[in-house]
Amino acid sequence: MSVPKNQAAWLVKAGSPLELGDATMPTAGSGELVIKNAAIAINPLDFHMQDSGVFIQQWPAIFGCDIAGEVYEAAKDVTRFKPGDRVIGYVAQEIDLLESKYPKLILPLFNRHAISLTSGRPQDGAFALYTVIPADKAAVLPNEISFTDGVVVPFALEAAVCALSLKKSGVAMPGVATPALGLPYPSIRDVPSAGKTLVVYGGSSSVGSMAIQIATAAGIHVIAISGAHNFYFCKRCGAARVFDHKDTSLAGKVIEAIRESDSEFIGIFDAISTPETYANDITILEQLDGGHLACVHPPPPATDLPGNVRSGMIFAVNDVVTPVWKDYVTPALQSGKLQCLPPPFIVGKGLKHIQSALEKSKAGVSAMKLVVEL
Ligand SMILES: NC(=O)c1ccc[n+]([C@@H]2O[C@H](COP(=O)([O-])OP(=O)(O)OC[C@H]3O[C@@H](n4cnc5c(N)ncnc54)[C@H](OP(=O)(O)O)[C@@H]3O)[C@@H](O)[C@H]2O)c1
Repeated sequence: MSVPKNQAAWLVKAGSPLELGDATMPTAGSGELVIKNAAIAINPLDFHMQDSGVFIQQWPAIFGCDIAGEVYEAAKDVTRFKPGDRVIGYVAQEIDLLESKYPKLILPLFNRHAISLTSGRPQDGAFALYTVIPADKAAVLPNEISFTDGVVVPFALEAAVCALSLKKSGVAMPGVATPALGLPYPSIRDVPSAGKTLVVYGGSSSVGSMAIQIATAAGIHVIAISGAHNFYFCKRCGAARVFDHKDTSLAGKVIEAIRESDSEFIGIFDAISTPETYANDITILEQLDGGHLACVHPPPPATDLPGNVRSGMIFAVNDVVTPVWKDYVTPALQSGKLQCLPPPFIVGKGLKHIQSALEKSKAGVSAMKLVVEL
């Protein structure tokens, strides 16, 4: 069989538009899959990487995190997948894997995992026709679900489970811990109430809406904060109550709803993490005698936080997510328990559309995932 030609959308230097060009056809190392991509999704991290070159170790670079497509090659030691399987996956590479294969790589890592380009390997970027992913960060996509729908799941899922299920705090970046909410994994079955309430700030964002889905599938009572136009969307994800982030009495209303929930207040997952959201987080946590504050960017300094607050920042790559990838994602997608939300907005078909998708992402989206079909 002749080897197919690979192509990619390359970043040649920080701040420049992507350039289409040939790329080496990757092969699957131990524990890996080569995927023939059918759709890729855009995340805010991508335009930050394009603008500043953050995380990029080797130029020119291929980046991007979310893929859906068919398994082209599975490593011999991979038993869960075979060529031709329809899958979704996340390009994150485990540092252990990389170190054993590339002992000379210098990985400026914050924890024991790497995200795509910290590996320095172009084949780990999503913005190509073929991409390498670890089998532990992939799941079979049921036939009834299109690639463009399924591709909204991977990065958001990894981030949500990292925010909710880590039991022991680790290091997100120097001087910043990861949150350790220690919540149970989502279940395919209907589980009884866990008697716990979590606030998800940014419930209509990609990561926030996935956190609502994952938490409610673990029996957690979720109170969400989003734009007023996205209340129905947050409820569709599973939120019991939703409040408008523009409401000037937001913190008071959320505090009242938490008290009315008559269950243990765990804390807040702030999927937005700006000075404005931190001000409300602090008011809520102050009034409720503390709790967790899990953030997507570095949390406020401890001196600004009320006592009894355990704060941290997620680093959305961790093997705590592996059981969810292995045991939950496929049956949950099949049964409809895990929905492909927020819905995709298909920017175009072909690698050439990734640049305009990145520009749209930078301009901002609402309850929507930007997707490019390949
Ligand atoms: N640390 C990590 O490992 C990690 C991993 C993944 C993502 N992130 C970060 O997490 C953030 C979210 O990523 P994403 O992909 O989920 O973003 P996204 O889907 O692009 O976020 C868009 C949403 O943000 C909501 N939003 C904006 N300002 C808000 C506010 N003040 N209050 C409540 N909601 C607000 C909007 O809600 P409305 O339209 O309803 O107003 C919109 O639906 C990004 O900053 C990303 O870089 C970090």
